[in-house]
Amino acid sequence: AAMPGLLLGDEAPNFEADTTQGRIRFHDFLGDSWGILFSHPRDFTPVCTTELGRAAKLAPEFSKRNVKMIALSIDSVQDHLSWCKVQGWGEVQEQLALLPCSRGQRRSPCRTGHRLGTMCLKSQSTEVLKFRAVFIFGPDKKLKLSILYPATTGRNFDEILRVVDSLQLTAYKKVATPVDWKPGDSVMVVPTLPDEEAKKLFPKGVFTKDLPSGKKYLRYTPQP
Ligand code: BEZ
Repeated sequence: AAMPGLLLGDEAPNFEADTTQGRIRFHDFLGDSWGILFSHPRDFTPVCTTELGRAAKLAPEFSKRNVKMIALSIDSVQDHLSWCKVQGWGEVQEQLALLPCSRGQRRSPCRTGHRLGTMCLKSQSTEVLKFRAVFIFGPDKKLKLSILYPATTGRNFDEILRVVDSLQLTAYKKVATPVDWKPGDSVMVVPTLPDEEAKKLFPKGVFTKDLPSGKKYLRYTPQP
């Protein structure tokens, strides 16, 4: 039977696994950091190589945001290490751990990956994972975001960084980010905050956009 998926707000499974950084327990690996767990179909495949290359290049950006990255596929730690070596990703090892998922093993990260995305167990009987998953966890180990792509569509790491910025901003301030928001753009006051409190909380001002309905619920403030 398919395992139930992990929903936003659920705690990350605390799996134990061998990685390119040695044996980890996921919660200890995360520590007080934010974390991104992303799965890829297979090492040494073209789209995956471009993705891991970009992840490695962006390691300083993730580090600045206190985000640890961990990538997952069905390949062995030895394969992961060889792949990192030939691609020259060695220097980013500290921030980009790769772990294998062994099929059939209870609580293995592979099963966790499936569980996280409510993915079909059918994928587990193939040599290649048929999806690319992105899971972002907060320092409280709770799932904050998940995105699922098919194997044939490479992910957009600019978008991943953008959502990290939004998740971190909205975790600590009473704001939400509007469509196509980028860091530095104005943000929106959350609908549950009364006008009087919003004025006090956002000294740079709260600006309401006119709507055909005349209602004043589009409340913007400069990014705090
Ligand atoms: C790739 O990473 O290039 C890839 C992997 C599995 C299916 C299709 C593409």
